[in-house]
Amino acid sequence: MNEGVNRQFYLHRRPTGRPTAEEVRRRDAPVPQPAEGQLLVRNYYLSLDPAIRGWMSAEPSYLPPIALGDPIRATTVGEVVESRHPDFAPGEFVVGLHAWEDYSLSDGTFLMKVPADGKYPLHYYLSILGAVGLTPYFAITETAEIRRPGETLLMSAAAGAVGSVGGQIAKILGCRVVGIAGSDEKCAWITEELGFDAAINYKTCGDLVKAIADACPEGVDIYFDNVGGAILDAALLNMVHGGRIVFCGAISAYNGDGKVPGPLNWWQVLARALTVRGYLVSDFFPRWPEGIAQMSRWLDEGRIRFREEIHRGFENTLEVFLELFDGANTGKLIMDIRED
Ligand SMILES: NC(=O)c1ccc[n+]([C@@H]2O[C@H](COP(=O)([O-])OP(=O)(O)OC[C@H]3O[C@@H](n4cnc5c(N)ncnc54)[C@H](OP(=O)(O)O)[C@@H]3O)[C@@H](O)[C@H]2O)c1
Repeated sequence: MNEGVNRQFYLHRRPTGRPTAEEVRRRDAPVPQPAEGQLLVRNYYLSLDPAIRGWMSAEPSYLPPIALGDPIRATTVGEVVESRHPDFAPGEFVVGLHAWEDYSLSDGTFLMKVPADGKYPLHYYLSILGAVGLTPYFAITETAEIRRPGETLLMSAAAGAVGSVGGQIAKILGCRVVGIAGSDEKCAWITEELGFDAAINYKTCGDLVKAIADACPEGVDIYFDNVGGAILDAALLNMVHGGRIVFCGAISAYNGDGKVPGPLNWWQVLARALTVRGYLVSDFFPRWPEGIAQMSRWLDEGRIRFREEIHRGFENTLEVFLELFDGANTGKLIMDIRED
């Protein structure tokens, strides 16, 4: 990293499928200076999340699309290096919504201080003590409405960052948990090491509706949807009367052209009196400290396991990001951009 230079990946054109270096380009910009009420963060780690692909599209979402010419938005953890903001001082570490760049300006919105006790590595605040832990934590404790012990929770992208942690939280809270993942190795990991009760490899199982029925003989009480598409359709045909669907993500559609047909089996929402709830972890931002405290306790007690895949080198960011859509990642994807 050269002093005075802010390396950035920025959105040059909106991608229609997988983003390439044609649409997401590299440039060197000057390091910005904070105005009154702002602070400057030097980013250490970038979080690579499927949602970033959605923000590259023009479709309206829970955040505005990334503007053409703007750096690619991402959650980062870094150090405050300059501050003209009353609540933040140089030397403090923060996690916030910034970008694929060395230095980001912030006005303090959606910015959280990371405890300075050094108990956990900084990158944990992008994974287990960040969205990876808190997304399933609030989704399962607040949105899924577990009603009785032994309910069956079906998790898609179950070996992914959110899914693998979510399945373990549901187990702690007394559910029977069945995961859907894209390889035998992933299925073995979630059942043998994470304690899921059963797993389905959706790429080799054949009839997915039947595979879910076999793995969930009493039906699915709660479907935790990270994927949408054909897996959602198969889950809909296995829901119990009064079942609940937590709509957390739709990764199967993120690299498409934006014209996603509704679920073919949507009628089942009526026929089975289902509750479908859209879920955003950001809605729980004021309660993140409470979620971090609980996730830390479970972590310290050895009740939650997780995997991180930390890649080094800012220049590799786009290439590593695309692993998310190939199923190639085996843990939370993080870039360490401090050195190349
Ligand atoms: N609502 C919220 O507040 C919130 C917050 C964070 C994340 N999310 C969502 O949670 C989901 C998981 O995110 P994550 O960061 O934990 O990613 P991740 O699960 O670590 O990685 C994505 C995984 O999804 C699976 N996948 C990719 N394309 C697929 C397809 N076409 N069909 C089925 N599975 C596919 C792949 O695993 P396989 O090998 O199993 O295919 C891949 O490894 C995403 O949809 C994300 O947008 C939502």
